[in-house]
Amino acid sequence: MDSIAILDFGSQYAQIIARRVREAQVYCELFPWDASMEKILSIAPKGFILSGGPKSVYEENAPYIQDFIFKTGLPILGICYGMQALTHALGGQVDSSAQREYGYAEIEPATLRLSSGQVSNPLLSNLSKVWMSHGDRITKLPDGFIALARSGNSPLAAMGDMKRKYFGVQFHPEVHHTPNGEKLLQHFVVDICGVKPNWNPKSIIEDAVERIRKQIGQERVLAAVSGGVDSSVAAALVHKAIGDQLVAVFVDTGLLRHKEGEQVASAFRNNLHSELVTVNASAEFLSALAGITDPEQKRKIVGEKFIRVFEAQAKQLGQPRFLVQGTIYPDVVESSGPDRNKAQKIKSHHNVGGLPEDMEFELVEPLRYLFKDEVRAVGEALGLPASLVWRQPFPGPGLTVRCLGEVTRERVSRLRAADAILIEELSKAGFLGKKAETSQAFVVLLPVRSVGVMGDQRTYQEAAAIRAVTTEDFMTADWARLPHDLLARISSRIVNEVDGINRVVYDITSKPPATIEWE
Ligand code: XMP
Repeated sequence: MDSIAILDFGSQYAQIIARRVREAQVYCELFPWDASMEKILSIAPKGFILSGGPKSVYEENAPYIQDFIFKTGLPILGICYGMQALTHALGGQVDSSAQREYGYAEIEPATLRLSSGQVSNPLLSNLSKVWMSHGDRITKLPDGFIALARSGNSPLAAMGDMKRKYFGVQFHPEVHHTPNGEKLLQHFVVDICGVKPNWNPKSIIEDAVERIRKQIGQERVLAAVSGGVDSSVAAALVHKAIGDQLVAVFVDTGLLRHKEGEQVASAFRNNLHSELVTVNASAEFLSALAGITDPEQKRKIVGEKFIRVFEAQAKQLGQPRFLVQGTIYPDVVESSGPDRNKAQKIKSHHNVGGLPEDMEFELVEPLRYLFKDEVRAVGEALGLPASLVWRQPFPGPGLTVRCLGEVTRERVSRLRAADAILIEELSKAGFLGKKAETSQAFVVLLPVRSVGVMGDQRTYQEAAAIRAVTTEDFMTADWARLPHDLLARISSRIVNEVDGINRVVYDITSKPPATIEWE
């Protein structure tokens, strides 16, 4: 398969570049700028995109373009720092600008005079408003380059060497703030690099099926299905590849949402025609959580318990050699990018349904190179129901982290009932699902009681908080501006229909400073 290599110079947008290229149906992979030649060339790229980055090319230890990149003779597109690194490496001049350029800028593409006559500039056609974020800028082009566009602050906002097919843009075509920026990337990878745009759900599935068959042969494979999108699509792909050699296991922790277990089982049975072994372990989970109120301790208990239950199940099923894991590309990239390992731990994310670390399995990771939107498209193409494919994320430790204070059977079912009302009302009003703006919404049960009055009776019951957020990547989020009437209906239904809740509040905190989940 044709591909493009994206070199990450420490940009916060590197993954977005990769997503835009994939959206153009071109396969690409991200590498740290200093990855080895062997590694980068192993995907046989037909061109390179160099990301932006926070440094200045003259700083000590500044990232640079490794020599073998030039020696391949392949096209290069440098974005922001990538453009500066390209300029620096090829003998041009980069200077710190007196004025940082940050935010929207207008660019004026140059009209090119080629021997064949005047042409407008295909790389930049449709572009005028762009997103800038840089301090340094190019003051002298390297030999062989011509200016392709100017902006108020950057006389050389884009440049190109048509012979070598090297290009540089000072702005960020990958972000949404640059309208039509994706067309520039598409033009580069398809027309300039000559990659056939055939990376789509059908080819992704064909490719995965072939690789899975090759890896597994006649062996049996175990999959832990959690009800989440990733583990379901991973299992579905493996099932397509090897049919009944797959044993899918669903552990009912008793900490799931309303009807979640039934929905997962029926999706497997009816849509994939695959059996699902369901283990009911709710009593075990709840007794392990009895009396515990500390959030981190609660998370650890659920993670550990899951491993033990799963381990016992694997033994019963004759200890298959392989285990399916729903690892997706952002998980892989986050742990390998430059300076990405230093982030402080805010919460331990125990991926229930994930790998028991001390178990001896060989891993099958069919989603390892896919972004979330690709995982969903593959899920749909495999025939999984939309309700599963477009399901909002659900944390591994389940309702534990939304049931603040002690987790008891009674409180969990109270929470589950309130959450089901929220989800029902939001879905009905079009605020959840495939094209909806709200990315995640749920109820949090608070260990706080307040006084109320119902009929003529005094009540003294718990409070529930509604959390609804909009976000692109779950790293930052804003609270959803839900209509007041909708909130009113949800609140009154929860208080009227759920025993033990007499007050509903709406969480109006963004992330940061808060997180999406409360624990
Ligand atoms: P926070 O609360 O950190 O959550 O803002 C960000 C996103 O991650 C989900 N989340 C988890 N997902 N295991 C997971 O697989 C976990 O332990 C976990 N904790 C939080 C959360 O629902 C949100 O979408």
